[in-house]
Amino acid sequence: MNVLVILAIIAVMVALRFLKPTIVVWAIAWWFAVFAMANYGIDPPVPTSVTNMFMAIVTIALLAYVTAAEGRMREAGESLVAFFTSKKYFIPLVIMLVAVPLLVAFNVYSSMTTQPAPPAAGRTIHPPPPATVSFKGRTVDLNNDVNPYRHLEDDDSEAFAQHVDNGRRVYYENCVYCHGDNMAGDGHFAHGFNPIPANFQDPTTIAMLQEGYLFWRIAKGGPGLPVESTPWASAMPAWELFLSEEEIWDVILFLYDFTDQRPRAREVHE
Ligand code: HEC
Repeated sequence: MNVLVILAIIAVMVALRFLKPTIVVWAIAWWFAVFAMANYGIDPPVPTSVTNMFMAIVTIALLAYVTAAEGRMREAGESLVAFFTSKKYFIPLVIMLVAVPLLVAFNVYSSMTTQPAPPAAGRTIHPPPPATVSFKGRTVDLNNDVNPYRHLEDDDSEAFAQHVDNGRRVYYENCVYCHGDNMAGDGHFAHGFNPIPANFQDPTTIAMLQEGYLFWRIAKGGPGLPVESTPWASAMPAWELFLSEEEIWDVILFLYDFTDQRPRAREVHE
């Protein structure tokens, strides 16, 4: 309870008693008193939806009270007619006619200009990957399958270079728009997205990930992310719809080759 607000409401109501206003003023005063009480008199604050419902009930109750007896009804009618016709009330009438539309306009304006609030929880950038990924009906085991072309780096450097070249083609045909021509996550479309595309030059992206992890992320994209990586929806497309398995492994080779990074290897005990 907010004692100061309650005391202020009581003071205004007591003062009104001495002024002996008409029934219409009383009804309006009660309406505002309840409104002030519901919105500022109670601590912790009452949710707006609840106060709105409550104020609707109060409005109906006050209307019912004023219209229930003939004497009150007549008094209300006379004072309303006087307010709109008598010269005495000209200034308050003008103020009301200006203030009401202004209040409504202000309300609309302030609700249109509120900025969207960020979600309460942050998103997990690197969620744990699943153990297996299905790719066009085949199951890829992310823990045990390695990039099938990685061994060529030592065994057949010419074939390896061909795979890297194919990865380069895949990258510049598909990925450059978002991840950028220097792979710094600053392609033409990048600034339209939140989260922004991954920066592969940054040592906290591909350098600390295994190639299987990248395969998962490239194949399944933003739609394949688990809930902890939402609520911001990632724009990363699911490339399984557009690329072959070989093209994905090749573009992975190219990502590491271009940025001069090494994929994180599986730790093995010597
Ligand atoms: C429409 C824009 C867009 C395109 C095109 C795109 N990406 Fe992405 N990518 C993103 C965004 C945004 C993220 C960051 C959010 C996330 O992790 O999903 C991301 C993340 C990634 C990640 C995860 C990196 C990490 O650190 O977890 C990889 C890998 C990746 N992209 C590879 C690619 C490859 C390869 C291509 C091309 C075949 C590509 N992307 C094309 C938008 C895009």
